[in-house]
Amino acid sequence: MRAGRFLSFEGIDGAGKSSHIEWLAGWLRARGREVLVTREPGGTELAERLRELVLHQGMDALTEALLVFAARRDHLVTRIEPALAAGAVVLCDRFTDATFAYQGAGRGFDLGVLATLESWVQQGRQPDLTVWFDLPPAVAAARRAAVRAPDRFESQDEAFFERVRAGYARRAEADPGRFAILDAAATPEAVRVQLEAVLESRGPW
Ligand code: TYD
Repeated sequence: MRAGRFLSFEGIDGAGKSSHIEWLAGWLRARGREVLVTREPGGTELAERLRELVLHQGMDALTEALLVFAARRDHLVTRIEPALAAGAVVLCDRFTDATFAYQGAGRGFDLGVLATLESWVQQGRQPDLTVWFDLPPAVAAARRAAVRAPDRFESQDEAFFERVRAGYARRAEADPGRFAILDAAATPEAVRVQLEAVLESRGPW
C-alpha cells in the first residue's frame, strides 16, 4: 500500500482553486490513487453544519475561531486521519492556514490563541503539501462579482483581503518546505501548468 498524502489548497476567495482540485483528483485517480476530496470548514455532517453558521451567522472572533477548529477536529478525526491511514491522497480545500489568514490576519484575532488551538486539534498533523493560489485582491474581487452572492467573508472589503493575503505569506515564510505558491492571476491553463510542475517536483505519486 502506498503511503497516504495530505494536500491542502489555499487562497483568498475568488482565487479559483476549486476547479484545479477537481482536475487534480482525476489526475491522481488515473494513476491508481485512492482520493478523498474534502473541504473546510466542513467535510463531515457536523462540520458542514458548523460551516453554515460560520459563513452566514454573525458572531465574535473567538466564537468563530472555536467553531472553525471544532469543525476541523471532527473532520480530522473521523475522515482525514482514517483516509490517510488507508493510503489515500486527501485533497482538502482550505485547512488551518486559512484560520491564520482569515481569523488571524483578516480579523486581527490573537495568533497565539490560534497556535494553541492548532496544536490541541491537530496533535502535530500538518498537510504534507499546501498549494497557495496567490493573486491580488482586486483581481479576485472582479472574479467573485461575476459569479455569486457573497457570504460573510466574501463581502469583506479589499483591505481585509490584503491582510488575508499577507497572513498567507507569513505562513508560507514560516514553513517554506510545505508551501508551493502559484500565480493564480494567470489563465486557468497557465495555473494548471504551474500545478503540474509542483506535482512533478513532489512526486512520485
Ligand atoms: P470557500 O472555501 O471559498 O468555499 P466556497 O468556494 O464554497 O465559497 O469558503 C470558505 C470560507 O470560509 C472562506 O471565505 C474562508 C473562510 N474560512 C475561514 O474564515 N477560516 C477557516 O479556517 C476556513 C477553513 C475557512
